[in-house]
Amino acid sequence: MKVIEDEQRVRVMEGQWTPEAVIKEIVEEGGHDEPFYVMDLGEVVARYHHWKELMPRVEPFYAVKCNDDKLLVSTLAALGAGFDCASKAEIEMVTGLGVRPERIIFANPAKLASHIRYSSSVGVDLMTFDSETELVKIKQHMPHAQLVVRIRCDAAAARCPLGIKFGCDPVTEAPRLLKLAAVFGLRVVGVSFHVGSGAEESGVYARAIQYCRALFTLGAAAGHAMHLLDLGGGFPGHTGSSIRETAQVINAALDANFSGCEVRVIAEPGRYFACAAYTLATMVYAKREVPAKEDDVEETHTMYFMNDGVYGSFNCLLYDHQEVTPVPLNTAEGTPRSSSFWGPTCDGLDCVVPRMRIPALPLGAWLVFRDMGAYTLPVASAFNGFPVPKVRAVVDRRLWSVLKELWPLTENHFVVAPPAPVAPLAPVTPAPEPHRAVFVECALK
Ligand SMILES: Cc1ncc(COP(=O)(O)O)c(C=O)c1O
Repeated sequence: MKVIEDEQRVRVMEGQWTPEAVIKEIVEEGGHDEPFYVMDLGEVVARYHHWKELMPRVEPFYAVKCNDDKLLVSTLAALGAGFDCASKAEIEMVTGLGVRPERIIFANPAKLASHIRYSSSVGVDLMTFDSETELVKIKQHMPHAQLVVRIRCDAAAARCPLGIKFGCDPVTEAPRLLKLAAVFGLRVVGVSFHVGSGAEESGVYARAIQYCRALFTLGAAAGHAMHLLDLGGGFPGHTGSSIRETAQVINAALDANFSGCEVRVIAEPGRYFACAAYTLATMVYAKREVPAKEDDVEETHTMYFMNDGVYGSFNCLLYDHQEVTPVPLNTAEGTPRSSSFWGPTCDGLDCVVPRMRIPALPLGAWLVFRDMGAYTLPVASAFNGFPVPKVRAVVDRRLWSVLKELWPLTENHFVVAPPAPVAPLAPVTPAPEPHRAVFVECALK
């Protein structure tokens, strides 16, 4: 049995544990001064099952752009998800893991010609478009493509509206594009939309599905065999959020518009799978006290410098409009004081939390940021020489025993270290340990 050299280590946990407890244990090993993530595979698995339970008709095609961590992608592949790729490199990565091309949609309506040719060469036939020029390009480079017309239908509010860039008008533009595709001899097989990432309205899915229904009828009239409906992304992902209401809206709209039809329904969730699975740990390595005035009161303000900032994981503040709150790993005691948190680079823009009241923190204090898995890692850079945080993955032993049997998470990829030696019996029965860890190596090439 060949064991591929370690690329990521999945730590198999026993008993009760939390990401904070895992972070504490890692920190207490000593010698760490770089930020790191704890990734919980169980969160991904639970979310996949929850999705299937709430929307059995909708196949999730994970949006790789959200977080292209190989372990996350492999876990979703093992569970049976499909993938939304936006570029040649993303397709290369996903097919490189052994995912069949039929499980991929090239969901970028504006593609480079070389990426279309690559897609064609590896058999990824399904792709989106929203303009006449894209149709001309596809006709030239991949005339056998199975096309999905992307329409615009925006949520009333969204953290990242996407309709400003992609999606043709479902009433004034899409019908013409369907006819044009038919004239070009191209096959349009479906309709897609994206209501906006971090959408704050669930009713929008009903509106969008209704538009799609109308376009299925027009597409059929133009000679297309329409059989794919793609609901895009927009689903919430942070801890405590729920897709229940959105699922009810979607199920009702599917029943009203697509019951009894042979229509395959997919969606492209990104945030939903990635966000809550990753917890970030950063360390305070420097601080500076400066005079400040808050509410007309003179006081000392503490600037804390952390080993990760807006050029690293916290790029999500700039690009994904996130707001983050540090939670000290060890309870901070004392009067809350005026404070701010900064990243490690020499740029004045590198401010993570500009203003917060928190008890004084010592140098070397570790901070925990939950829900850091979406639109963080793939965008992070090592600007100024500060490395992108590594990921420490954990999984429950019970879950791991199932996952390791699921391709591409084959047993070949894991090595279980021998269990820790059993401690001699103490005279008084000690309190139960919160958790005990066994190390497993997982190479995901
Ligand atoms: C085409 C497409 N599909 C899916 C997604 C994922 O969206 P979300 O993370 O909101 O689920 C995006 C995000 O930008 C996207 O552009």
